Amino acid sequence: MSALEVTFVEEDGTVRTVAADAGQTLMEAGKGNGVVGILADCGGSCACATCHVYVDADWLEAVGAPDDVEAEMLDMVSDVRRDTSRLACQIRLTDRLNGLRVAVAPYA
Ligand code: FES
Repeated sequence: MSALEVTFVEEDGTVRTVAADAGQTLMEAGKGNGVVGILADCGGSCACATCHVYVDADWLEAVGAPDDVEAEMLDMVSDVRRDTSRLACQIRLTDRLNGLRVAVAPYA
């Protein structure tokens, strides 16, 4: 597995760069490294939105848009949803996403 680095900006502004492996989800990388605010209550099955992040503008194209199921779940947090919103459990890390930067979203 390739060693990647991804950066989370927590709600209080703390910047946390963590090691990850290609094939992991962004949620797994965050939760596994104790990133504050990545709760992942549903375990990554796109059913809770407690892994909501805002993707840095520079990374939006590489990350891509949510599919319909994820978009519906993001509707559940519509008061804090942005155009850059994604659920971290639905972002599968690849070499292309090495250096990815996201901000942890507040809870609705
Ligand atoms: S972990 Fe529940 S939606 Fe991502």
